[in-house]
Amino acid sequence: MTTNAEQGAKRIRWAESYMPVLRALRAELTAEQPFAGKTIGICLHIEPKTAVMCGVLRAAGAALALTGSPGTTQDDVVASLRETGTVVYGSRSDRVADHDGNIRSVLSHRPHLLLDNGASLVQTLLNSSEPHNVTGGTEETTTGANLLREEMKGKIHFPVIVINDSPLKVIMENEHGVGPTVVAAFLSTTNLMVPGRRFAVFGYGSVGRGIARYLHALHARVTVVEPDPIRALEAALDGLQMASCDAALANNQVLITATGRANAITAERFGLISDGAILANAGHYSWEIDLTALRDAAQRSDRVNASTEVFTMRDGKRISLLAGGEMLNLAAGGGNPVETMDLGLALQVLSLRLIAQRARELPPGPQPVPMEINRQVARAMLEALSR
Ligand SMILES: NC(=O)c1ccc[n+]([C@@H]2O[C@H](COP(=O)([O-])OP(=O)(O)OC[C@H]3O[C@@H](n4cnc5c(N)ncnc54)[C@H](O)[C@@H]3O)[C@@H](O)[C@H]2O)c1
Repeated sequence: MTTNAEQGAKRIRWAESYMPVLRALRAELTAEQPFAGKTIGICLHIEPKTAVMCGVLRAAGAALALTGSPGTTQDDVVASLRETGTVVYGSRSDRVADHDGNIRSVLSHRPHLLLDNGASLVQTLLNSSEPHNVTGGTEETTTGANLLREEMKGKIHFPVIVINDSPLKVIMENEHGVGPTVVAAFLSTTNLMVPGRRFAVFGYGSVGRGIARYLHALHARVTVVEPDPIRALEAALDGLQMASCDAALANNQVLITATGRANAITAERFGLISDGAILANAGHYSWEIDLTALRDAAQRSDRVNASTEVFTMRDGKRISLLAGGEMLNLAAGGGNPVETMDLGLALQVLSLRLIAQRARELPPGPQPVPMEINRQVARAMLEALSR
């Protein structure tokens, strides 16, 4: 019988076979050993593709302490990583309270570098009075970058390279990775049809744009809610309907949030949502929909499959929630396509190498991926695509 760890290892090897950019980096950095003597504290979704990157970092000399995000950790991958000597905290069943403890456990390893997701590690580090060894790090998401730039502005005394600001990641992963995988997760979770169905997408950043464009390409009727007039104009020019939040809630059958902000759909608006509507989120945190209020307002809730819960409201109306409001493509699907993650994770590895080698020369606080790293990864990906 195959053990959990063996199953995880098989899936990691399979993903790696489609990740040529990371494979090439592994060979280069094994010789170079840029992370020798360094511990990297990591918070990132734990699945086969991120495990491939962990293998590259370890081969490049790093010791790793790792945790995932609530709802997306894959237990067979955790088992396999543990067998290869990576310290991993967390499991599939983790909720937000467990996540906080896991983050503190990762930081207890006194890492020199942080690879963060949603600013979880940096925020906990800042709130702690313990001395630390961190010289710099990276941040994967827009949500984390927003927190670094707003709530933690001026408080971070080491450089943090924001991977999601890379034009490469925006094009390849957010738009062409998240878009189709959110649509695929919707199809497999609900078994419903997309053509002709009325979808509202909240937010027309690269993630919302990808979801809306792929839905539109499959002949859905797509409405966009976007407060920024420039992005709203772009959506209109892409041939999509524009609406206010209230009109979109009232007139659509599927409501998908991708704003990167809390409370895009708030409690006082639940009354507008039509009977049978389906709610889903693609943004980093489930806070985009006020889920506590949804649970409070419901008379009962029934789970119809692993990723679908139906709430019956006091007026008899039924509202379904997919994947508990966690990122639909990760929590109810396979996550972003392997090739898009090859690119994003290569940006991570090269940015961490830069921090390991030259943190003191970089300004403190959030900053973009340097253009030379973007170009290097773009060239490697182009080469891989043309093979
Ligand atoms: N699911 C995934 O695999 C995945 C991958 C990458 C990023 N993300 C997450 O997706 C989210 C969006 O990322 P992005 O890069 O597109 O962000 P972005 O900031 O570029 O775009 C978000 C858009 O939402 C709009 N917005 C803000 N509040 C709104 C509201 N209340 N209603 C409607 N629109 C609103 C903003 O004006 C902006 O145009 C982030 O949380 C990011 O971390 C998810």
